[in-house]
Amino acid sequence: MFSNLPAPVQDPILSLSQASRLDQRDTKVDLGIGVYKNSDGVTPVMQSVLQAQNIVLQQQTTKAYVGMAGDEEFNAAALSLVLPDSAIAQRATSIQTPGASGGLRMLAELIAFSHPNATVWLSNPSYVNHQPVMEAAGLKVKHYRYFDVKTKQVDTAAMLDDLAKVKAKDVVLLHGCCHNPTGADLSPEAWKQVTELAHKQGFLPFIDIAYQGFGDGLEQDAFGVRYMAEHLPELLVTSSCSKNFGLYRERTGSAIIVAKNGTHAANARGKVLQISRTSYTMPPAHGASIVKTILLDNDLKAAWFNELEQMRLRLVSLRHNLCLELEKRTQTNDFDFIKQHKGMFSVLGYTSEQMIRLREEFAVYGVNDGRINIAGLREQDLNYVASAIAKVR
Ligand code: LMR
Repeated sequence: MFSNLPAPVQDPILSLSQASRLDQRDTKVDLGIGVYKNSDGVTPVMQSVLQAQNIVLQQQTTKAYVGMAGDEEFNAAALSLVLPDSAIAQRATSIQTPGASGGLRMLAELIAFSHPNATVWLSNPSYVNHQPVMEAAGLKVKHYRYFDVKTKQVDTAAMLDDLAKVKAKDVVLLHGCCHNPTGADLSPEAWKQVTELAHKQGFLPFIDIAYQGFGDGLEQDAFGVRYMAEHLPELLVTSSCSKNFGLYRERTGSAIIVAKNGTHAANARGKVLQISRTSYTMPPAHGASIVKTILLDNDLKAAWFNELEQMRLRLVSLRHNLCLELEKRTQTNDFDFIKQHKGMFSVLGYTSEQMIRLREEFAVYGVNDGRINIAGLREQDLNYVASAIAKVR
C-alpha cells in the first residue's frame, strides 16, 4: 500500500520549529512560526484565559457531543467580534472550526461545491498554507500583485490593476489585517477600492482575519471586513482565536458566511456542516468554551482586551527598537518599513540564501521567504538579531 509513496515534503513553517528545537546554540532566536512570546521567551496563557478555563472546568458536567457547528454561543460571540452589526448578522452565519485553517478548508470546499470552476486569487505573496488548502479542495489558484519588494509596502495600483481582470464568481482572498507574511496592510482607501471592484467584476472576497487585535487595535483591524460586509451582498471570512486569545493548540476558529439573505446563509451553513461531517464531524470544544466564557462576561472581556492591547503595544515597541538598532548598524533608513508594518510579521526582502545564512551563521530562524516573526523576539535579543540581519544584508 505504501511502497510507492514519495518522501514527504516539509512544511516551510512547521519544519522550522522542529529544526530550531534541535538547535543547541545559546544564541538561537526562533522567529519562524507565528506565535507571540513575552520578554522571557514564553508563549503565555493569558490571565483571562486561565480564569475562564477555571470557570469552564468547574461548571462542566459532561463531555457529551456539543453539535455539528460547535458551540452556538461561541459562534454568535465570535461573529460579533468580527461583524458586530446586527443587520449583517441577520444574513450571516458562523460555524466553529478547528482553527482558522479548518475554516479555510471548509469554505474552500464550499466554493468548490458551488462553483467548481472558480479560481481563487491569492496575494503575491500569501500565507504559505493558502495555496495548498485551496488546491486540496480542487480549486485553481492564481496570484495578484500585492507587495512591492523595493518599498516593502502594498503596491495598491498593481493590485487593483490585477483585480480589475478577475472574472465574475472567481474568489479573491484578502488578509483582514496584519498581512501574513509581509506585514504590509491595505489602507482604508484601498479596502474601499477593492470593494468597488468586487461589485463591478462580481468576484467574491474571502477574508482571512487571523490576527485581529495585533495591528492597530481590535476594532480598527476589522475595518476592511466590516466595510465589505456592509457594502457587498456576499462575503466569506475565516477568523482565529489562536493569536488574540493565545489558544494556538486548542484549534479554535470560525468560518463565517455573509449571504444575500438569511435563507442563503442557512443553506450555505448546511452545506458546510455536511462537508465537515465527512471530515472531522465537529470541532473540539475546550477553546470555544473558554472564548465564549470571556466574551459573555463584561469583566473578563475587559481583562482580555487589556491583555491583548498590552501584547499589541509591546509588539509596536519591538518594531520601533528593532528598526532603530538596524538603522544604527547600517547607517541607513532602509528598515523603516519594520515600524510601518502591522502585526507579528515583516518580510525583510531577503533571499532564501540570506535567510539560510541567518539560520546557519547566527541561529536566527526566519522563514525562507524572508519573513520574520517580530512577536518571537525578546528585548534582550534585539541587539543580536539586528547585528545578524545587518551582517547578511
Ligand atoms: C504562521 O503563519 O506561522 C502561523 O499561522 C502558523 C501556521 O499554521 O502556519
